[in-house]
Amino acid sequence: MSNPTTIPVPAEVGLLYDRLTALDTAAQGGSLHLGYWDLDDNEVPLVDAADRLTDLMTDALRLEKGHQVLDVGCGVGQPAMRIAVRTGAHVTGISISRDQIARATELAEAAGLADEAEFRHADAMELPFPDNSFDAAIAIESIFHMPDRERVLSEIRRVLRPGGRLVLTDFFERAPIPADKQPAVDRLLRDFIMTLARPEDYVPMLGRAGLRFVELRDITEQSVRQTFEQMSRSEQDLDPVFDEEADEKFSPAAMIDVDEFGSVLLTAQKPV
Ligand SMILES: C[S@@+](CC[C@H](N)C(=O)[O-])C[C@H]1O[C@@H](n2cnc3c(N)ncnc32)[C@H](O)[C@@H]1O
Repeated sequence: MSNPTTIPVPAEVGLLYDRLTALDTAAQGGSLHLGYWDLDDNEVPLVDAADRLTDLMTDALRLEKGHQVLDVGCGVGQPAMRIAVRTGAHVTGISISRDQIARATELAEAAGLADEAEFRHADAMELPFPDNSFDAAIAIESIFHMPDRERVLSEIRRVLRPGGRLVLTDFFERAPIPADKQPAVDRLLRDFIMTLARPEDYVPMLGRAGLRFVELRDITEQSVRQTFEQMSRSEQDLDPVFDEEADEKFSPAAMIDVDEFGSVLLTAQKPV
């Protein structure tokens, strides 16, 4: 296992994303997650491939017009706005970063979507919403920053209505990471304040959180390598974002060949 010993602290994750928000994220169209490529179309730009991952996850929610959706760890709101426009659902995004919430709110107003996509500063470990208040929940690459996955799942179950669906993506160790690749993974986990999941934990964890397992899909082949390849070709320097004096910081290029680092897409449902 390559999980670092440190458990993420939400306030620190919030400050990390405040710093990231100060950078120009336009190159990624505002989405802060991996792209999704069908196996023969690797040249699709990351910005479009990232929207595709959002769409794939949205489709798994089976939304209807007027549904209330919770976006847990919403970034600067690009996925929430896209979901609202594509489905006619109302999306409430939460983030632990106050600057992301300010930016997401500005962007939604500028896009004329302030009524359809709303944003609020909150910690996913203690969701500030009543029981049974959402028809669906989505968490795109956010749960790996949270100190206790099971507690987050339990909170999401609480705020979902019976029958409501959850879809999330998470990073996991597909196979033991070889010693020569471990430093690159450790830098990624340290600089982005993350832990890696163990996919075999998910089904029992869902059960303890009161959610019904629907599907677990390894989407690594469609997402990870292509994203790190495209990130490594981009001009954007992320070093100033990391709160570390370390000589060596996260490098997308160093992650390209780490085939053991995976991404998983999970769908679950609150029992009726
Ligand atoms: C990699 S970004 C993904 C953002 C967005 N889902 C997207 O795909 O564009 C991770 C997000 O999770 C949020 N996050 C991390 N820990 C959180 C917590 N404890 N409570 C709420 N949001 C959190 C971060 O603030 C950030 O918005």
